[in-house]
Amino acid sequence: MSGNRILKIRINSVKTADGYHILRDIDLDLFEKETLCIIGESGSGKSLTGYCIMGLLPPNITADFNLTFSKENEILNSPEKLRGRKITMIFQEPMTALNPLFTIGEQLSESVRGLNRAETKRRVIETLKDVGIKNAEKVFHSYPHQLSGGMRQRALIAMAFLPDPSVVIADEPTTALDVTVASGILSLINNLKKTKGISLIFISHDLNIVEKMADRIVVMYGGTVMEAGSINDILGKPLHPYTIAIKRLFDERKANNKGHLPEIRGFVPSVRDMPKGCPFNPRCEFATEICRKELPPVTEDANHHTVRCFNYKSFL
Ligand SMILES: Nc1ncnc2c1ncn2[C@@H]1O[C@H](COP(=O)(O)OP(=O)(O)OP(=O)(O)O)[C@@H](O)[C@H]1O
Ligand code: SF4
Ligand SMILES: [Mg+2]
Repeated sequence: MSGNRILKIRINSVKTADGYHILRDIDLDLFEKETLCIIGESGSGKSLTGYCIMGLLPPNITADFNLTFSKENEILNSPEKLRGRKITMIFQEPMTALNPLFTIGEQLSESVRGLNRAETKRRVIETLKDVGIKNAEKVFHSYPHQLSGGMRQRALIAMAFLPDPSVVIADEPTTALDVTVASGILSLINNLKKTKGISLIFISHDLNIVEKMADRIVVMYGGTVMEAGSINDILGKPLHPYTIAIKRLFDERKANNKGHLPEIRGFVPSVRDMPKGCPFNPRCEFATEICRKELPPVTEDANHHTVRCFNYKSFL
């Protein structure tokens, strides 16, 4: 990547209260003004990676991680200092992310700092208009249940952009919406990302969307990163058997006009049932003895294309 690195995340481990790994050995870099897409099947650890960065992990979970945010001589390391200021998040399900007891205006006003009441209201209404809500004054006084799913998601996007963040994490922001509404929401996020000059971490199942949005892609499986690199490397020259399988099935589905993350033979292991060694080994046609014993290390090439596989060179 050519831009400056804005965020560096190192997750040693995230575990359940009884000691099972949910995430382990993850390194992520985010550069200024880029869109980094995180893909992977359900249960691979995408959302928890986002919650970890936000310092929003559930209380029953223990985490060993560190992050560094750096921009224009400002360096911050604590999620609590970053959350809601430098880094914000758009959640998957707008109805659960919004409090049904408070109006949209009351909830969005909490994201504004340092302005008086009248200025805050003006700022919130302006931002509601920025996210394409025409009757912003009415929406300001509405409760979440009085809005459609698409309008609620727009209100949540406004909430994420109100503090003028440097990084926005969008966790599958369109899965709860129907296709036409979803496409408007994606264009909105893309346009805001460009006009505000932020960096975007976009979590998605849908390779159709990822293909259009990503500068770089991180492929997660079994609570760790299997492969990461530029969109051209990941979709054009995938190295990991999991990515190769995803890509092959995606291409087949695309030929039939269906672009969602396709299914691969077998299933994603649960955190309490994670296989020893490479988490993908029970589903991998290239697995060898060592794959069932040890977690493969990460290998990186000169283009920062990384892969976690013992045998990737044998099928290049
Ligand atoms: N509070 C928790 N306690 C124990 N395990 C959890 C908890 N929250 C999530 N998990 C487990 O951690 C794993 C990763 O969950 P996560 O929600 O990050 O997956 P995901 O990749 O976002 O999946 P999806 O695509 O379905 O949203 C899953 O196996 C999930 O069951
Ligand atoms: S390490 Fe082994 S099991 Fe894992 S993806 Fe590579 S070949 Fe397959
Ligand atoms: Mg998730």
